Amino acid sequence: MNNIRYDFNKITDRTGTNSLKWDKYKDALPMWVADMDIEVLPEIREVVVKRAEHGIYGYTTVDSEWSGSYINWWKTRHSFEIRKEWLRFVTGVIPAMNLLIRNISGEGDNVVIQTPVYPAFFNIIRRNKRNVLENMLIYDRQERAYSVDWTDLEAKLSDPETKIMILCNPQNPAGNIWDKETLKRIGELCEKNGVTVLSDEIHCDIVAPGREYTPFASVSEINRSISISFISPTKAFNVAGIQSAAALAVDPELRKAAWECFETGYIDEGNYFSTDICKAAFSEAGAEWIDQLRIHLWNNRKIAEDYIRDNMPELRVIPSDASYLMWVDCSAVMKDSVSFVYHLERKAGVMFSAGKSFGGNGDYFVRINLACPESMLKEGLTRFRAGVASYGVQ
Ligand SMILES: Cc1ncc(COP(=O)(O)O)c(C=O)c1O
Repeated sequence: MNNIRYDFNKITDRTGTNSLKWDKYKDALPMWVADMDIEVLPEIREVVVKRAEHGIYGYTTVDSEWSGSYINWWKTRHSFEIRKEWLRFVTGVIPAMNLLIRNISGEGDNVVIQTPVYPAFFNIIRRNKRNVLENMLIYDRQERAYSVDWTDLEAKLSDPETKIMILCNPQNPAGNIWDKETLKRIGELCEKNGVTVLSDEIHCDIVAPGREYTPFASVSEINRSISISFISPTKAFNVAGIQSAAALAVDPELRKAAWECFETGYIDEGNYFSTDICKAAFSEAGAEWIDQLRIHLWNNRKIAEDYIRDNMPELRVIPSDASYLMWVDCSAVMKDSVSFVYHLERKAGVMFSAGKSFGGNGDYFVRINLACPESMLKEGLTRFRAGVASYGVQ
């Protein structure tokens, strides 16, 4: 833990702040929903305080500095040159994809997702009366790894009713960073079958030290012509409560349709704080902070991996290159993640996400949020161990 300049181990009391994570299961240490128990970059707090002090919080425009901050960040951090006109402010990745599903597909059409994956994907497909086509990732229990089932993916994309594929790049929960070849092949298959790709890249800035993610649209002309990507500072900079993201569409026709759909849904206007926060995050100070944070998060991951290996050897941690979420195979001790998680909450005082809602083989897993101070993580792991020991015992 050398060279850590920020105090990622500071405990900040979030009770009484309407925190979803802390309010929902009051008696359990919350290690479920994906936000961090870590205070933001000091420069973000400064811009919030400055704007709050102004005293009038009216309608707010999205200026060119906002797009400039994304352009500069993707160029310097992700080697991808974005043009200003490709970007549009949206109030969230999920609200934007929800509207696009309604716009690009019709009722009864198929949307392909690769499971296990972020549960909200199921909701925005099913509640819009579209069908979820699960391209289940292949799980190698021995190798503790997931990979793409290409035969199944090809079959599902070639179904004439399939109109959209939602890609999670990097993948939540297992943390795959999809490589260039995989992204290229997905792009080619989707193009061949007339399928539009919505690439959710919200977790892209939290990758293991030394690793890098590849933006879907950076890979090829084909990928650029069939996709709309979503990028945002909210996960990496712990500002999910500001409801802010950017849609990135290169193809003029696709872009026109998408922008119209965001305008119709009134999701293209920033709130009073969001654009300044975004600029503060995608900055030099933000780059330094995020690099230090990644060291902290992968240190936490190592603590958790070691603890589980030494104390709950029957469980299997899936090694991850991205996000602060840990996907743990608990199939040796349970067959129903919902009742297991309920037990952990009620009897052991720790709350994880049940894997079932992620689809695929998720019901054998729990997802643990590691983004917290080290002491909190250790307390959560101790409770986890007690909960595993008492599960199924009368
Ligand atoms: C993969 C993924 N996409 C989207 C979201 C939510 O994005 P937003 O708050 O911008 O709708 C999350 C939140 O955890 C996520 O993990």
